[in-house]
Amino acid sequence: MKIAMGNDHTAIEMKNEIKAFVEGMGYEVLDFGTNATESCDYPKYGEEVGRAVVDGKADLGIAICGTGVGISLACNKVKGVRACVCSEPYTAKLSRMHNDSNVLCFGARVIGVEMAKMITEEWLKASYEGGRHQRRVDMLAEIENRC
Ligand code: RB5
Repeated sequence: MKIAMGNDHTAIEMKNEIKAFVEGMGYEVLDFGTNATESCDYPKYGEEVGRAVVDGKADLGIAICGTGVGISLACNKVKGVRACVCSEPYTAKLSRMHNDSNVLCFGARVIGVEMAKMITEEWLKASYEGGRHQRRVDMLAEIENRC
């Protein structure tokens, strides 16, 4: 299973920690950067992660910026992406189970590495439940197609 990862300059250290953690769980990581410390623009990396997921190059994505907000907005501009900013594991787990989230985002300036690992683990271990949730996920896609 492949995980696309992307981040801006605020989150290089966090990305590297989470990348090693995810690889340790047995996943392959496609790292879209940035790996340069110069200030950069999160939309580029969010789009790359989102595209990798919807194009099927990766199964899921993890995108990190200072707060997780900017990069999640960029991911969500890619049709078919359901990116969620999570600062604790409960939301992360439920975002997979109920919302079929396909990109996990968090803020390198908001949470610590150990919390980020716990969030990532719960998110990766959870599965989409389908059933009654599918109608709502379909409604999200319908909004995306109509607006
Ligand atoms: C960069 O300064 C910061 O704005 C960015 O990492 C992110 O937090 C935006 O949402």
